[in-house]
Amino acid sequence: MSQNAIVNLDGQTFEFPTFVGTENEKAIDIAKLRDLTGYITYDPGFKNTGATKSAITFLDGEEGILRHCGYSIEELADKASFLEVAYLLLNGELPTQSQLDAFETAVKKYTVTNEALLKMEQVIPTSTHPMSELSALVGLMEGQYNPDETSENILRLIAALPILAAWNYKKSIGEAIVAPDQSLDYCSNFLKMMFAKPGEDYKVDPIVSKALNKLLILHADHEQNCSTSTVRLIGSSHASLFSSISGGILALFGPLHGGANQAVIEMLEEIKQAGGDTTKFIAMAKDKTSGFRLMGFGHRVYKNFDPRARIIKKAADNVLTALGVKDPVLTIAQELEAAALSDEYFVARKLYPNVDFYSGIIYRALDIPTNMFTILFAIGRLPGWISQHMEMMTNKDPIGRPRQIYVGSPERAFVDIAKR
Ligand code: CMC
Repeated sequence: MSQNAIVNLDGQTFEFPTFVGTENEKAIDIAKLRDLTGYITYDPGFKNTGATKSAITFLDGEEGILRHCGYSIEELADKASFLEVAYLLLNGELPTQSQLDAFETAVKKYTVTNEALLKMEQVIPTSTHPMSELSALVGLMEGQYNPDETSENILRLIAALPILAAWNYKKSIGEAIVAPDQSLDYCSNFLKMMFAKPGEDYKVDPIVSKALNKLLILHADHEQNCSTSTVRLIGSSHASLFSSISGGILALFGPLHGGANQAVIEMLEEIKQAGGDTTKFIAMAKDKTSGFRLMGFGHRVYKNFDPRARIIKKAADNVLTALGVKDPVLTIAQELEAAALSDEYFVARKLYPNVDFYSGIIYRALDIPTNMFTILFAIGRLPGWISQHMEMMTNKDPIGRPRQIYVGSPERAFVDIAKR
């Protein structure tokens, strides 16, 4: 039964409609709040603010549920290919075999070396972080194409990100690029462009491409997170899809968001260098004056467990065993997790390992360099960003423009510089 929210302000009573989503998520519609009452809501970090209605992803942070268009992340990660999940996010339905074949063929059509973009890439200094370079190159694609959100541009972006990532890696190791191979699937082609020597008859290890496929699926969308909100916010000004994705990449770069996967491995390495004792680092994470956080721990919405982290933890064990890799930081990560999960500070604040805690250990086993971990996150998140952008444009969402409460100086007269 629908009900109204009653707000009493300055001796007056106001009513605001409420509504309920498919999964019983409840919201108060305050669109008319300021007009009617003169008040705005104050919600730093948007902890309680629903910015949109969306039909793409559902997550329940208390129960650790994540579903895309109704399908559980567990099933998708286990049974689907990354492009199949991309299709689902972009179209709202799983593809039939012929639809998936057509989609893969369409992505392959754009899986080519963009010579003009390559020239631009080659002048970017190697000291530039791969995420900054990726954002810059995606932004530059706008100048090459009609910047609208067309199906060609969507396919171009999906095809381009692994290519741009591989260029960056080859430049960093001083090797010539390897041309994309349209005979390979999405993940295998990326691995070949990364790790084949130019001209080499390179065989992709199926264990590696399967692990990569799973990781990309686990990152494919996560409703209104920081980078997706950035994509929607930029897009809401009717800036192009390329600009929106370029901005989303930069939002993802930050260590509190996707950049955490790089930060986790750096932290685990630091613990290893310091002798492997996790106690000191747990104590530092609890000490608010230290400025140190346990990277890969905590989440804005998951307050019980992150379902992606559970899948990745299991996958990390399996992949390392299958590849015969013994990584001492895996043991440190497991010890750190056990210590944190039995510590009152982490228990009381509901801080659990998130998607970034174990993903880096798999990336390392796949020989992906640490500073490229977040690029892998970006390749995975791209279909989510695009589908959220599409949804925003289709729904004709208004330009995103939060308000504020001004707390600065009241009006004062200008003082001549000689008298200050
Ligand atoms: N280590 C130590 N204390 C923490 C941590 C942590 N990793 N995360 C949160 N806390 C504490 C925080 O100090 C606060 O304590 P108190 O209530 O005493 O002030 C409490 O837990 C609540 O934290 P918050 O900062 O208010 O929570 P938030 O929802 O604003 O932040 C977060 C979420 C993910 C940014 C944060 O947990 C964090 O910084 N984690 C480490 C970075 C990380 O792993 N990020 C990846 C997120 S998952 C991938 C993605 O989707 O981006």
